[in-house]
Amino acid sequence: MTQSRNFQSHGVTGVLDQPKAEPCLLVIFGASGDLTKRLLMPAFYNLVCDGLLSENFAIVGTAMDPLTTESFREKMSVDIKQFSTRVEFDPKQWDSLCSRLYYTPGKFDEDAAFVRLAELLKTLDAQYKTGGKVLFYMATPPSVFGLISSQLEKAGLNDTSVGWKRIIVEKPFGTDLDSAIALNREILKYWKEEQVFRIDHYLGKETVQNIIAFRFSNGMFEPLWNRNYIDHIQFSVAESVGVEGRGGYYDRSGVLRDMLQNHMFQMLAYLCMEPPASFAPEAVRNEKAKILSAVRMMDTPDLVRRNTVRGQYGPGTGPDGKPAPGYREEPSVPPESRTETFLAMRLFIDNWRWHGVPIYLRSGKRLWKRGTEIIVQLKSAPDFLFHGTGVDSLDPNRLVFHIQPDQGIELQFQAKTPGPHMSLQKVNMRFDYGESFTASRGTGYEVLTYNCMNGDATLFSRTDLVETAWRIVQPLLDLWKTEPVEFPNYPAGTWGPKASFDLIERDGRKWADVLSRETLKKIPLFQGADGVLLGSLVMALKPVVFQAEELVIQKGEMGRALYIIARGEVDVLGEAGEVVATLGEGTFFGEISLLLSSPRMATVRAKSFCDLFLLDKSDFTRVLRERPQFLKSVMEIATSRYNVAVQPDAILEEES
Ligand code: BG6
Repeated sequence: MTQSRNFQSHGVTGVLDQPKAEPCLLVIFGASGDLTKRLLMPAFYNLVCDGLLSENFAIVGTAMDPLTTESFREKMSVDIKQFSTRVEFDPKQWDSLCSRLYYTPGKFDEDAAFVRLAELLKTLDAQYKTGGKVLFYMATPPSVFGLISSQLEKAGLNDTSVGWKRIIVEKPFGTDLDSAIALNREILKYWKEEQVFRIDHYLGKETVQNIIAFRFSNGMFEPLWNRNYIDHIQFSVAESVGVEGRGGYYDRSGVLRDMLQNHMFQMLAYLCMEPPASFAPEAVRNEKAKILSAVRMMDTPDLVRRNTVRGQYGPGTGPDGKPAPGYREEPSVPPESRTETFLAMRLFIDNWRWHGVPIYLRSGKRLWKRGTEIIVQLKSAPDFLFHGTGVDSLDPNRLVFHIQPDQGIELQFQAKTPGPHMSLQKVNMRFDYGESFTASRGTGYEVLTYNCMNGDATLFSRTDLVETAWRIVQPLLDLWKTEPVEFPNYPAGTWGPKASFDLIERDGRKWADVLSRETLKKIPLFQGADGVLLGSLVMALKPVVFQAEELVIQKGEMGRALYIIARGEVDVLGEAGEVVATLGEGTFFGEISLLLSSPRMATVRAKSFCDLFLLDKSDFTRVLRERPQFLKSVMEIATSRYNVAVQPDAILEEES
């Protein structure tokens, strides 16, 4: 597999020495749409900046909109300023790409449009010396993939006697098993499997590609990577946004089709597949298809009910803390919609490696944080040695893949707390992309389109994988068509329906909430703080649990910690014990105690069972001592946002 060049080792500037993509013409169907301006054009611009596109390359946009080459170039020149992922915009590089953009309007059912396209391609092929190689990018709804393919055939544009012809197709690849089979059949009428590149943008993410690099380049983990040592695996893809103006599309899709069946199953395949014999595309794709075909089918309605929980958000709170509408109130969503915006699922893989290891997946819109993480939880060590030492139980070791927005890998384990007594504390070792590599952020489409131009299909889905993925989820789609459901069942800004907690807790396990830097940024004290500082603070957070009615902090006590509510609610009590406010998931309290040693101003009591994250003052101090360069900015924030005047080094002195 060709790895993306977006990351360079520390200290090395410039782009790693990589060959350029093969010469070709790229035709984008649906070029006036969102995908082109938001993701494709910024990706090609990045490739140009990194010197990875051939000089023998040009792009032809086509769509119904009556644009000309000039107006297409003008439009793209405006859009790139908004959507470029690079810190600095380089007009020279953009101009070199922009001068290679062309446009021809036309409807997909209009023969003449394809005749015009063929003529333009012939001219450009001669001009750019692309050797007859053409890549067709279907940035269109799947319903027209077949139509476009037949038009290309009629116009002689799928002729491979001079130069290769390839197509990239975007998701959704079908809406269920039958439609995916039909779509594959239709496409394979015109193209050979090796010409078809089905894209899943998750495979363009460095952190996702790194799953296989990590697994197969480090000897340390492979011996543990099986049912003998791994207790269970969790995949969480949480989004804090709603449907973002895509209500019409989303309502026909839902999270199962939008995230689970494709993005999450791709990650599952990478994490669980057997080592391939080589990185040859077919070797990797064979292993991915094999692992998905070993997923146990939920072939009765009861199995679906027992292993899945679906949800839909109602009104609640948005990521900015302001009121957010419920899903049914979103534009273009029917007021009676039964579409799921949340899904939690338990799967088993029936093969020798994974038999009996539960795999939990959950994803949803309007959850209280944005974050994609994979957690591999190992079996706990026997704790009898520690009996009588004051250590109640041993936390299991966990390997956490932070996919986004935090990017890294973390190993959680226990260490002895310094002092004469045997007591343990959870600690971690962490690899952070931002610290180890200087990265120029991309859209993910750089590596995908580059690989396609070079004919490397490793990161693309083959027919069998797509169909197997649909086969796994088909029983859910079948049952949900008729099964009554009570929606909405979770407020926007929370962790989803309560039943999703029951799904995992009845196995004696818990969702491992991993807090990201984004969550910390909600706290005024940390807004605008450096990513490295936030990364260290995230690591210092400790999970704590309170039962309903239990006191979390008491008025008058010396404050020693900041609390973030991961799940549940707390009441803030006034003088006479009356409830003056109720705080819910994603909110926080007590941050002043990180700055000042002062008595707590109010009592806070758990209203329900609560999972909280705690940032202890001593950990906060430790982090600042390790990174003294941040002390000054924290103090400035303390003064400006909290009106708390402390000497710049007062925190450190207090703890020493
Ligand atoms: C898309 C879905 O495929 O992936 C969106 O259609 C979703 O609904 C998006 O928001 C998530 O992608 P990412 O890269 O932001 O995790």
